[in-house]
Amino acid sequence: MTRSPDAQPNQWNTETYDGSHSFVFEYGEAVVSLLDPQAGERVLDVGCGTGHLTDAIADSGADVVGVDNAEAMLAEARSAYPDHEFVHGDARDLAFDESFDAVFSNAALHWIPDQDSVLESVASVLHPGGRFVAELGGTGNVSAIVDAVFAELERRGYERSHPWYFPSVGEYASLLETHGFEVRYAVLFDRPTELDDGEDGLAAWLEMFGDSLLAPVPASELDDVVAAVEDELRAEYFADGAWTADYRRLRFVAVKTGN
Ligand code: BEZ
Repeated sequence: MTRSPDAQPNQWNTETYDGSHSFVFEYGEAVVSLLDPQAGERVLDVGCGTGHLTDAIADSGADVVGVDNAEAMLAEARSAYPDHEFVHGDARDLAFDESFDAVFSNAALHWIPDQDSVLESVASVLHPGGRFVAELGGTGNVSAIVDAVFAELERRGYERSHPWYFPSVGEYASLLETHGFEVRYAVLFDRPTELDDGEDGLAAWLEMFGDSLLAPVPASELDDVVAAVEDELRAEYFADGAWTADYRRLRFVAVKTGN
């Protein structure tokens, strides 16, 4: 596993994101179906990444804007889909001149611990009656991976801190209601996810997504830590030449109340 000397958490490698980790947006197509975008609707895609789902939403005839805080992702999205609008922005502080009929998000919200700010911000850009349709990691998401990394960090005397926000249905539904949404649908489900890259799949996943989780580990020890995590998980999560990650998803539809 490699980490460049100036690596910053969540500075995405868009080539690997669209290659080995393309399952992120491929699974997201089910969330686009749940959104059920209509021609002429104005939709905001929060955490649009490289824009594949923004484009899938636009296929319906909806007028879509993609927003992301990673410039590398936006550059890739603009180049792949020059007809769509992609803007730099923070989900906690969305600001648009015109409000939206719907806000959509796939596999992005769990990167942001401050969900009060996210929901206040999403509510502020929706029309009353507008819907918020999203999927994020739910409680227990990738817990086998996190636990195995934590065990190895502890063995080596490093600090452990959980970098992601994976809520339960009850917790997130309450938060949505606190911010003026009515929850129409919410479900937590297991979605074991086969990783690409064969034997290297778990190491590649940790390289792409695990910067914060592995932050206390010096670069010189990373390979040993990853090998120990693989040893710990192999019996249960490696079969027929592929690793499976223990994903759990929280998916919901909520409607903004009020006038
Ligand atoms: C997820 O989509 O559930 C996820 C992706 C990367 C890191 C953690 C969770």
